[in-house]
Amino acid sequence: MSNSLATPDFRFRRLRRTTALRELVRETHLRMTDFILPIFVEEGISEPVAIKSMPDVFRYPEAQLAAVVQRAWDKGVRAIILFGVSTHKDEIGSDTFAKDGLLARMIRIAKTAQPDMLVISDNCFCEYTTHGHCGVLHKIIGDKQNDVDNDATLKNLQKQVVLAAQAGADMIAPSGMMDGMISAIRQALDIAGFTHIPIMSYSTKFASAFYGPFRDAVDSTFKGTRNTYQMDPANAREALAESLQDEAEGADILMVKPGLAYLDVLAEIRAHSSRPLAVYQVSGEYAMIKAGAAAGVIDEKAIVLETMIAFKRAGANLIITYYAEKLADWV
Ligand code: PBG
Repeated sequence: MSNSLATPDFRFRRLRRTTALRELVRETHLRMTDFILPIFVEEGISEPVAIKSMPDVFRYPEAQLAAVVQRAWDKGVRAIILFGVSTHKDEIGSDTFAKDGLLARMIRIAKTAQPDMLVISDNCFCEYTTHGHCGVLHKIIGDKQNDVDNDATLKNLQKQVVLAAQAGADMIAPSGMMDGMISAIRQALDIAGFTHIPIMSYSTKFASAFYGPFRDAVDSTFKGTRNTYQMDPANAREALAESLQDEAEGADILMVKPGLAYLDVLAEIRAHSSRPLAVYQVSGEYAMIKAGAAAGVIDEKAIVLETMIAFKRAGANLIITYYAEKLADWV
């Protein structure tokens, strides 16, 4: 049939006509159980300290952690990830594997406050080392000076994760981007009797400017870069290989960090792995949305929901976000 106003073969708009129809055919959904809330605990403070570029995000004193966990639980948050900011720093971050160090104390407090909350331990050294790197530095002077010694770091990481598991962590989340970290951790946990504790690897973590607000808040003494261990944002093939390597080493959950600028990487990993996949919406992503909303140029709620949907559509199953508590009002 010829028609000068030729219509397309298929009318997609038929399923967009009403709200009920649109909801019926919606492919991607958000639930509170998708979200993981990061919580920062800092030694040596007695009141919450606001992070200037991240409105509504605070570093909390240890004495308030139990209340913060309970508040999140009451809001509907079911998983948290704990970050410590230590005043007991040394060259190797030994506080992270001390029985009564901050890392172990935070986990114990959180689990006691709400035993049903899934408590994830972020396992790194950067907030516990005087130099601010994510591990032990090489002793050799020369071109390796100020570079992280991979295998020496793994030994300390093994001690750290066993301590975290002993303190009651439900999941171990190594974020230091050391080679072999998943095998080393799995082996240490299994030997110590923690065969049942899963590992969520920061498997593809980029050396990103989107960490800026976080670094300003907690890493003010760190002057270098993490380019010798975190990934080059330009590399997508390597990003896939990094995550698949962690899967092969036994990671239970994989992750891409940061989020919004790396949706292609998420989709690629999703297509090649059957493991659950997490995404971390980092401080810079949060700060930009907040700044845009404060300037009156975007609708905060709509932008956040659209961003969360984008993460899931791209293949993320879990989302680590500073919006986790707020999302309870929105989903
Ligand atoms: C380091 C660490 C980073 C963040 C938390 N822990 C990245 C980095 O500084 O390299 C960033 C979190 C954020 O920006 O939201 N292990």
